[in-house]
Amino acid sequence: MTQTTKRSSPTNMLQLPPVRPTFLSLPGDRLLASRLGGASGCSVLPIASHVFPDGESCLRLCAPPITGDVAIVAMLRDPEPKLAELLLLAEAARQWGAISVGLVAPYLPFMRQDAVMQVGEAVTARSFAKIISRSFDWLVTIDPHLHRIQRLSEIYRIPTRALHTAPLLGQWIAKNVDQPFIVGPDVESRQWADDIAASAHAPAVVLNKTRRGDAQVSIRLPDDLDQFQGRVPVLVDDIISTGTTMAATVSQLIDHGFPAPLCVAVHAVFSPGAVDAIEGAGARCVVSTNTIAHITNRIDVTPLLASAVSRQTRRIAALR
Ligand code: R5P
Repeated sequence: MTQTTKRSSPTNMLQLPPVRPTFLSLPGDRLLASRLGGASGCSVLPIASHVFPDGESCLRLCAPPITGDVAIVAMLRDPEPKLAELLLLAEAARQWGAISVGLVAPYLPFMRQDAVMQVGEAVTARSFAKIISRSFDWLVTIDPHLHRIQRLSEIYRIPTRALHTAPLLGQWIAKNVDQPFIVGPDVESRQWADDIAASAHAPAVVLNKTRRGDAQVSIRLPDDLDQFQGRVPVLVDDIISTGTTMAATVSQLIDHGFPAPLCVAVHAVFSPGAVDAIEGAGARCVVSTNTIAHITNRIDVTPLLASAVSRQTRRIAALR
C-alpha cells in the first residue's frame, strides 16, 4: 500500500471548518489575548503565576486539560526576562494536551541584531529564532525588521507569517492629516514608506541616515525636498527606540521650513525619554500601533492578528 501525506492547497484549505485555538498569554499580556479571543470567538485560558522566594517562577494553566491547538500571545519588548516564562508556558501547554503550540508575537525582538558587528558576537536574531523554533509550531508576527536577513524563513525553522501594517498606517494618515507627504528617515524604511504612501494616496521621500551610536544619528535631506512645500511631513518607521532618528528628522524638516511633522511607527519600543525627545524637537504628535502597549497607541492591529492566527491554525490542522 502506498503511504500518502495529507496536503492542502490554499483553495481546499478554505473549505475546512475553522479551527479555534485556545489563547494563552504571559501574565502581563492578558489584555491582548482577551481582545484576540474576542475578535476570533476563541477562548482564553487564564494562567496563574507564582514566584518562589528564590526568584524561580511557576506558571499554571488554570483549567486544564486543553483539547486542541494553542496560540500563546506575548508582547516581546524587553524580551530577556520573558523568554524563560514563554518557553515554560509552551511546555506546560503541551504537557496538558495542546496538539500544537503557536506563538503570536506582534513585535519580534532581536531582528535588528542581524549581523556580527564585532568579533565574538552571535547573530542574535538567528540565535533567538533557533530557540523559538525548538519550542513552537508556528509564528505570527507584525512587520519584523527585515534588513540583512530578508525573510523570516532564513532563520526560523517553523512556518512563519509576517503581517504588514502599511495599509492601516496609510488609512490612519489619510483620515487624520490634510495634504501629507510621507518621510522615511533612512533607506531601511523605504519598504514601509512606499507602501504607507500608496495607502495614504500621498507622495513619499526617503532620507539618508548615518548612525554613529545608540543615540547619535545624523540625517541628510535630499536637494529636491522643496517640491513638498505646502504639505505636512509624516515620518514613518518600523521602530522608535531612543527616538533619536525621529527627533533628528523632525528638527531638520522644521529648519527647512516645513510645518510640525507627525511621527508614526509600527512598534512603540520607546526607551525612557524617547517621546519627550521627539516632542521636544517639535513633532506635532507621536502615534503607534498596539504591537507594544504604549500611551501613543492609536492604530489597532487586533483584527489583523486574529485573522492571521485563524488562517495559521487552519493550515496546521489541514496538514495533520
Ligand atoms: C533601524 O533601522 C530602525 O528602522 C529604526 O530606524 C531605529 O530602530 C530607530 O531607533 P532610534 O529611535 O533609537 O533612533
